[in-house]
Amino acid sequence: MTYPIEKFKDIETPFYYYDSDILRHTLRTISEEISKHIGFHVHYAIKANANPDVLNIIKEYNLGADCVSGGEIERSINSGFPAKKVVYAGVGKADWEIELALDYDIFCFNVESLEELAIINEIAEKKEKIAKVCFRINPNVVAHTHASITTGLAENKFGIALQDIHKAIKVAKALKNIEFIGLHFHIGSQILDMDDFIALCNRINEIQDDLEVKGIKLKIINVGGGLGIDYNNPSENLIPNFKLYFDTYAKYLQLREGQEVHFELGRSVTGQMGSLITKVLYIKHSSTKKFAILDAGMTDLVRPALYQAHHKIINLSSTEVKETYDVVGPICESSDIFAKDILLPKLHRGDYVALQSAGAYGEIMASQYNCRKLPIGYLSDKL
Ligand SMILES: Cc1ncc(COP(=O)(O)O)c(C=O)c1O
Repeated sequence: MTYPIEKFKDIETPFYYYDSDILRHTLRTISEEISKHIGFHVHYAIKANANPDVLNIIKEYNLGADCVSGGEIERSINSGFPAKKVVYAGVGKADWEIELALDYDIFCFNVESLEELAIINEIAEKKEKIAKVCFRINPNVVAHTHASITTGLAENKFGIALQDIHKAIKVAKALKNIEFIGLHFHIGSQILDMDDFIALCNRINEIQDDLEVKGIKLKIINVGGGLGIDYNNPSENLIPNFKLYFDTYAKYLQLREGQEVHFELGRSVTGQMGSLITKVLYIKHSSTKKFAILDAGMTDLVRPALYQAHHKIINLSSTEVKETYDVVGPICESSDIFAKDILLPKLHRGDYVALQSAGAYGEIMASQYNCRKLPIGYLSDKL
């Protein structure tokens, strides 16, 4: 990954830098790989990065949009994603959000409870519409990732419990304004071990076999997202292994005639194309440590503070002999730390530093805590 530092001089730090070549390369790879599998469809998970310039590029590659709020539905449709390719999940859909989704005639609601199903039916009836619905099932499959981004265990708040599938489908089929079309799953994020996805496939196969005995057919199987990226060595593994990922599903998921498989990829699409660019404010010496205090903090990139995420940090301004630093932000929280005891070429006030692999769950999760400005995302094409 290269950084046009000369062009950075006119931009206020901290900011996100998005490399459009990497994004396009990633999207081309996804397109090539899914074209090898009949019935595979990818929805980009808007939650990972909803920067309008980024969405503008993603929508060119014919992906659908995976949304979890009315705001994301608006954002994706305004960015040119067709409503008929929008799927909408979330445990707490508000009435106005359901109305909005129905008004746009989105492809499908991923419904997470029977309580929600009843409200969707009620609102659809008032609008004289039929809502297409997949049930999000909690498959109770372990994902070997951080506890805060595991979603498919019985203890998680997401989805309908395995044992309630039959009841849920029976209820859905009896509702006049609901069309039940399939099942939805999402076991977690930043998953690199294909065995976790194989475990999901095996669980889905069991569910399908069981449903078939009762004469229930599924048009859609949505397996969610979750493919991880290499945070340790981004340059060596810039493009996630989409071939292995899609081939794994093709091999282990027992599809029925005409069935579609939908994917909801977020991190693996936008993660590696983005870096948080920040400047060193001070090098502070304590009796035991040397702190590199950046002008970016947890308000700009919360992942390290929220779930101990690691982002590779590089010094863009110097190649001097390496020294050991704790790299921290300016926020008044002890958890505002990006890395401890790492070796970096000697840092000076004003040096540019990049926190890599920050294109997903970075800018979109920024906050104004401490009354700070929100970081702006710049696409390389536009600099
Ligand atoms: C339902 C659902 N689908 C897709 C995603 C995207 O996951 P990822 O960014 O790991 O691909 C998420 C992430 O939380 C999710 O909750």
